[in-house]
Amino acid sequence: MFPYASDAPDTVAPAAAPPGWWREAVIYQVYPRSFADGNGDGMGDLPGIRSRLPYLKELGVDALWLNPFYASPQADAGYDVADHRAVEPVLGTLADAEELIRYAHELGMRVIVDLVPNHSSDQHEWFRRAREEGPGSPYRDRYHFRPGKGASGELPPNDWTSVFGGPAWTRTENPDGTPGDWYLHLFAPEQPDFDWEHPAVRHEFRSILRFWLDRGIDGFRVDVAQGLIKAEGLPDIGRTDQRRMLGTEATPIWDQDGVHEIYRSWRRILDTYPGERIAVAEAWAPTAERTALYVRPDELHQTFNFALMGASWDAEEIRQVVDTSLEAVRTVGASATWVLSNHDTCRHATRFAGPQPEGQRHRAGDRTLGLRRARAATLLMLALPGSAYLYQGEELGLPEVTDLPDEARQDPAFARSGETDGFRDGCRVPMPWTVAGPSHGFGTGGSWLPQPEGWGMLSVEAQMSDPDSTLELYRAALALRRRHPGLGAGDTVQWDDAPDGVLAFRRPGFVCTTNTADRALTIPLPGRPLLSNSPIEDVEGPPGAAFALPAHTTVWWTA
Ligand code: GLC
Repeated sequence: MFPYASDAPDTVAPAAAPPGWWREAVIYQVYPRSFADGNGDGMGDLPGIRSRLPYLKELGVDALWLNPFYASPQADAGYDVADHRAVEPVLGTLADAEELIRYAHELGMRVIVDLVPNHSSDQHEWFRRAREEGPGSPYRDRYHFRPGKGASGELPPNDWTSVFGGPAWTRTENPDGTPGDWYLHLFAPEQPDFDWEHPAVRHEFRSILRFWLDRGIDGFRVDVAQGLIKAEGLPDIGRTDQRRMLGTEATPIWDQDGVHEIYRSWRRILDTYPGERIAVAEAWAPTAERTALYVRPDELHQTFNFALMGASWDAEEIRQVVDTSLEAVRTVGASATWVLSNHDTCRHATRFAGPQPEGQRHRAGDRTLGLRRARAATLLMLALPGSAYLYQGEELGLPEVTDLPDEARQDPAFARSGETDGFRDGCRVPMPWTVAGPSHGFGTGGSWLPQPEGWGMLSVEAQMSDPDSTLELYRAALALRRRHPGLGAGDTVQWDDAPDGVLAFRRPGFVCTTNTADRALTIPLPGRPLLSNSPIEDVEGPPGAAFALPAHTTVWWTA
């Protein structure tokens, strides 16, 4: 019958808005370098984003989150910030940022900006002075400078490794040219870690928060929120698989209890502003319970929950993720968040296209299968209680670009790992807006990462008004989510019995069924269908009659 029924009669009255707009918001992640290029230099920018805001409004999202657009040498695509109060000239001006915020608000959308507190750029004034002035510089203690080990300090101060590969320490030169102390960088050497025990660092970030809040932003996405405080004495870890430990095991690097005091002080600032300003943490903690500590009532509002992103296309695994995630945030009264794709991860249309090798080049896999599962996964995600974070281009069903030429890659982890890791450019390829044109409507001057063959057929222009397209599926889903009080709200799901391979859960007045198997499975008819990611047969019969739920399909029903 129909791929989806966006025109199904809307019999449900809109719900009263619950307190806390973020609790069920759909937040769209804009990667500024790759969204839209307003000046034709091949790099996306703030005026480009502004020009596309009506598209986001029509898509039906509540807010946007912008990845860093601050002054930066771009050693890690803007996560190396040289000046937190200035806009990177390649991306625009402060006036452009203010205009973007203003226009988004005019259209009824909120704006969240990235905040990068764990480290700065090595070109940040504090770090430049710390390095240039040498030992004794008052700027030294704002970072982690330490003498090396070994007879002449030739060995790093401890055994920590960088998330991007190689040691987490780089040796400096003294002003007289002799080898000097080492400094800590949990990411690239161009990203020295701040020492958050220093009061000037704390003071500076409270001031940066106010700077952007005064410009009207609605919240912050806090980068590497679990990293700010390191265990006292920076003790060795004694293991080489430290990357694997990130977010899974306790280490002296991550998730120290001292971070919470910082977030409590930030919350006090956020609460002094009108309009419910929020902070959402990227916090990789070893357990769901540890992650929930970041969202206690006097701390941050949300953390990204990456559990769904890590789950395979398997009903049992997804069910466990949903239960564990909801339970963890319920204990502290916070709302759940759900993410399937972002700028650091293989896009879900490709992840579900077949097994992906860990930490290696992604495989294109079976694209048709991947897209079908991805669309089903998205509908499942959008039916869960809590807020959903969408990553630009997923509404077009964009796949990961798996065959970028190595010389085009800019992910710093690619070079640092000896080209065995650092494949994040594959999800950062500029958006296709039009079928034809020099960079498919991204801009007039090419694109900083090459767009692959066939990109135009995935463009907004190609999909707009095509009822079978992924774009129209997202639009229909978001429109229904807005109108249907059973979607997004609350903090629980009620599971129905279902055959192996099927997930069926109930929300007030609503049922979501997902078949993760590769063949149709029979379920009792839950009600009247609202939306589906793949064609379903004519649905007839009373509730409870046998219904064949197609393979890799989610159907939303009114119950
Ligand atoms: C976060 C960002 C990632 C960045 C890293 C270092 O994980 O999402 O893109 O490279 O922090 O700032």
